[in-house]
Amino acid sequence: MSRVSVIGLGKLGAPLAAVLAARGFTVVGADVNPAYVEAIGAGRAPVVEPRLQEFLDAGKARLSATTEVERAVAETDATFIIVPTPSQADGGFALDYVLKTAEPIGRAIAAKTGYHLVVLTSTVMPGDTDSRFRPALERVSGKRCGVDFGLCYNPEFIALGNVIHDMLRPDFILIGESDRRAGDVLQAIYERVCEKAPAFARMNFVNAELAKISVNSFVTMRISFANQLARMCDRLPGADVDVITGAIGLDSRIGKKYLKGAVSFGGPCFPRDNVAFARLAARLGTEAPMAQATDRVNRDYLDHLGQRILACVPKAGRAALLGLAYKPDTGVTEESPSLALATTLLAAGVAVEAYDPLAMPESRAKLGETVAWASSMAACVAKADAVILLVPWAEFRQLTPALLKNGGAGVAVFDCWRQLAPAPFQAQGRYLCPGLGPD
Ligand SMILES: NC(=O)c1ccc[n+]([C@@H]2O[C@H](COP(=O)([O-])OP(=O)(O)OC[C@H]3O[C@@H](n4cnc5c(N)ncnc54)[C@H](O)[C@@H]3O)[C@@H](O)[C@H]2O)c1
Repeated sequence: MSRVSVIGLGKLGAPLAAVLAARGFTVVGADVNPAYVEAIGAGRAPVVEPRLQEFLDAGKARLSATTEVERAVAETDATFIIVPTPSQADGGFALDYVLKTAEPIGRAIAAKTGYHLVVLTSTVMPGDTDSRFRPALERVSGKRCGVDFGLCYNPEFIALGNVIHDMLRPDFILIGESDRRAGDVLQAIYERVCEKAPAFARMNFVNAELAKISVNSFVTMRISFANQLARMCDRLPGADVDVITGAIGLDSRIGKKYLKGAVSFGGPCFPRDNVAFARLAARLGTEAPMAQATDRVNRDYLDHLGQRILACVPKAGRAALLGLAYKPDTGVTEESPSLALATTLLAAGVAVEAYDPLAMPESRAKLGETVAWASSMAACVAKADAVILLVPWAEFRQLTPALLKNGGAGVAVFDCWRQLAPAPFQAQGRYLCPGLGPD
């Protein structure tokens, strides 16, 4: 099977289309947004993502795009759906965009004589693939899932800023399958795409749906645990959160990842997947107190951090914020802790100047002219009384006292991710960070 369509060419869909084309598949992308279709058609990246342009260039001869979903499906043998599933007021994920794709996909399948594989990649609530999406496809196509066409639920575990790498070298591929044939066809696609042979976890739909949100719920639990530890270290003379997490991370039952003790988690997936996990428990008539505590610790920690940062800005002083995206290597600011902290400072009457290598347009659209927008790290910190490093972008490690007002004399540097060597800053002004004993 070498002809694949990708429905939804956004932050995840555009990289997937480019990677598939670069690895030799003939790919037809489809999106309702004509600007994204035009960009892919012209070989330009419709979203900001490292290495996306390189893969678009490599796959150019085999990649086309259209606004007609039905045509994209008709011209291919397998279809990935990566459209939004926004959070609802109750914490669950809306299926409206996914169900909308069932119409054109079902019509195209109805007109086909051969087998077609449909792959749902958007994150959905457990139960939705089998109870809502499969029946919609069968109704429109008039064909039977598992017989005339196959269906897989195959969510992604990528991190924005690292999407291409994570697609090429995933830890594992999670596949919920309508039947063995559907899973075999999808596994064969990944075996052609991945640089490193991944583990395949194949199961029914509902297990895959619950496994998907379980991963993010578990990972955020670790982040909140480490943040809670950092908060305790803030009050304990001689304590150092890095020393503690470094030690416990050596235990193979624990491991080192996502145990930093730095800033609350944010972004388009972590906060909402965790809320959805708790919501599912409630729907099932049970509880998920660990997921709820993870979420509460995350919010409380952000307030705590905000108070500590505020305390280091002198009255009527000026703060420089370095980093606005929810993580490095992306311009996405959805649920960004940095924007929440900027709002806390502004509400307290602090004059804020901010800089981020990629997230300036999104941040400016959200905060407007309440903030002064700097064109570089150096411009951002030059006049500040306090410099707050909020996101661990690599370029922020180049910060030196020489870039600061008066060579750093009297300037407070609050280094949330402990990226800098403290000594040069301590020699001139103050160096503060989470998790390293009382200030
Ligand atoms: N962004 C992430 O980090 C991430 C990680 C894991 C999972 N996911 C999941 O992947 C899904 C997509 O996320 P994203 O970040 O790529 O979203 P996105 O908003 O960046 O892109 C979605 C695209 O789908 C298009 N679209 C909407 N309705 C359509 C339709 N009927 N037909 C064709 N195109 C349509 C939109 O125009 C948009 O370009 C969501 O379910 C999300 O939860 C996202």
